[in-house]
Amino acid sequence: MKQIAKIEAFELMDSRSNPTVGVRTTLSDGARGFALAPSGASTGQHEAHELRDQDNNRYGGKGVKTAVKNVTDIIAPALIKLGTVCQSAVDRTLLELDGTENKGKVGANAILATSLSVARAAAASYRMPLYRYLGGVNAQRLPTPMMNILNGGAHAANNIDIQEFMIIPAGASSFAEALRQCSEIYHALGSMLKSMGLTISVGDEGGYAPNLDSDETAIQIIVDAIEKAGYSTDEVKIALDAASSEWYENGVYHLPKRDVIYTVDEMINHWETLCRDYPIVSIEDGLAEDDWKGWTRLTERLGGQIQLVGDDLFVTNRARLKQGFEAAAGNAILVKPNQIGTLSETMEVVVMAKNRGYSAVISHRSGETEDTTIADLAVATNAGQIKTGAPCRSERVAKYNRLLVIESELRGQL
Ligand code: PGA
Ligand code: ZN
Repeated sequence: MKQIAKIEAFELMDSRSNPTVGVRTTLSDGARGFALAPSGASTGQHEAHELRDQDNNRYGGKGVKTAVKNVTDIIAPALIKLGTVCQSAVDRTLLELDGTENKGKVGANAILATSLSVARAAAASYRMPLYRYLGGVNAQRLPTPMMNILNGGAHAANNIDIQEFMIIPAGASSFAEALRQCSEIYHALGSMLKSMGLTISVGDEGGYAPNLDSDETAIQIIVDAIEKAGYSTDEVKIALDAASSEWYENGVYHLPKRDVIYTVDEMINHWETLCRDYPIVSIEDGLAEDDWKGWTRLTERLGGQIQLVGDDLFVTNRARLKQGFEAAAGNAILVKPNQIGTLSETMEVVVMAKNRGYSAVISHRSGETEDTTIADLAVATNAGQIKTGAPCRSERVAKYNRLLVIESELRGQL
């Protein structure tokens, strides 16, 4: 039986210069796995708890020394004693050690980095790529990127309220082809913005972050960029992430940058109009995380037509997804490992969604690192879709590069 010999934890740095937890697991045969936790900005209220030190003398309170210490003092001895690298046994132990509903005691950042590093060490020990170890013979489908090329909301210092404007190269014949199309469109968009005298500086996820007149203008510019790059909107579609939990107050939606207020029905009408006028095929968090009644109405109106993704709504959590099934809310789930905290729970929620006919989109966070686990996870679960930002900023590009390598490996085997 393979055994965990050593677990080390480090306070490292994420792409927004905030500390994050990194964990290195060493097995008794010498195999090693290393993983880092990502971090969100527009976090859902129901996410697992990211443990930060709250010591204002360090990193503005965002240090993770406590989480690091929890890995070395609480997690490491228990997992070494466990005597196996079996992922479900490891993750069950992590849940028991924490014992809280939201992983607030040990910290979801400490738990996730450990859970992922154990899987990586096991894969290394079995001499398998991570996607193969996690997905077995079934792991074979490369995801289509939902690529965020224009940033707003909490991810950019511009005047745009919608957080993410994404392109989906739905007609591409391979992942490499999909990535090439997106990159060409990204460059076309950049040169268009430049010629309009607008900034080409980028937001947290690598998309451009210019000031524009309206959401419609942003979408129209993307349509123009698709065409300028030589593609049509039959081949390349548009997706939005409104991240509208950020706007919800007292039962209405207050878009802070434009200072506009929509009732729930006006918000739904707004999405319907945008879908009528533009090639939009997916809207994420079109309504807020606890607006269940609104979500049911939104799904009745648009669910037959487009993908409605629950991010803050479902927070990668099986109980929340079940609630979604019961309320007929949404038809897709965004899957972010750090929203729930363990690899096993993350993989289980993908299966649960698929069994019910919901689609699953594997996702990064706005605060990321060089860790590429989500690329392997997307292939392992055959999720079919991945959201990991623009083809810009190395923490985003690392995931795309990993998928390119996986695609060539799979080609070689088939
Ligand atoms: P976050 O944004 O990582 O800041 O939560 C990503 C998203 O909302 O999908
Ligand atoms: Zn989102």
